Amino acid sequence: MTTSISPLIAGNWKMNGLRGALDEISTLAGLLTTGESPRALVVICPPATILSEVCQLGATSGILAGGQDCHSQAAGAHTGDISASMLADAGAQYVIVGHSERRADHGETDALVRAKAEQAIGAGLKPIICVGETEAQRDSGQAESVVAEQLTGSVPDAAGVHEVIIAYEPIWAIGTGRTPTIDDITRMHASIRQQLVSRFPETGMSIRILYGGSLKPQNAREILSVDNVNGGLVGGASLLAKDFYTIISAV
Ligand code: 13P
Repeated sequence: MTTSISPLIAGNWKMNGLRGALDEISTLAGLLTTGESPRALVVICPPATILSEVCQLGATSGILAGGQDCHSQAAGAHTGDISASMLADAGAQYVIVGHSERRADHGETDALVRAKAEQAIGAGLKPIICVGETEAQRDSGQAESVVAEQLTGSVPDAAGVHEVIIAYEPIWAIGTGRTPTIDDITRMHASIRQQLVSRFPETGMSIRILYGGSLKPQNAREILSVDNVNGGLVGGASLLAKDFYTIISAV
């Protein structure tokens, strides 16, 4: 972990979490306030239906909240969509954009992801911009070039002056229990850092780069201590307060 950047651990609940799951927020809040104080910022990105409750329940224990997606426009005739300002209005401070599941399920392009990130920044949110290669792309030696292209296309110029977060999530590691080797994570995060610094000479060193993809209580300590890994984006293991707290404590 690069020590000058305060780490951030975000939980992406994806399409999981009815109101009953709010008990996990209360449990996590209890663990965070009674245990050793966390060395990381803690963010939960629940489904939008319970976002405002998560904001309220988390407030006293420092748990921050984020959306999982936002629209690329500010408002208008877009049935079923959620704008960045609606998320901010509900109490969110972050929003995930360009997750590989949205890129795959909804055909989201880099240009669209960039527009979403711009909307997020405009609404005062910090976008968590996701990038990552498929297994075939890694096997054919293209992982770094694919991620570099996604970064170029998805990260807005405003990232030079507004806070954004990058999440590297190799698609083949998501929900599979498989992770890249420590060497591979080190190389990829260094390559992302290099690209950020070359595009944003003033601020590129301080942009958080999260790792995501089967981050678990068992591997968190090792992965989170890699250079240029400034925290994690956690799927499955963020659904249970105890597991998520163990990952937070690994920082
Ligand atoms: P898992 O932690 O379940 O592999 O999911 C990672 C992810 O997609 C977080 O956004």
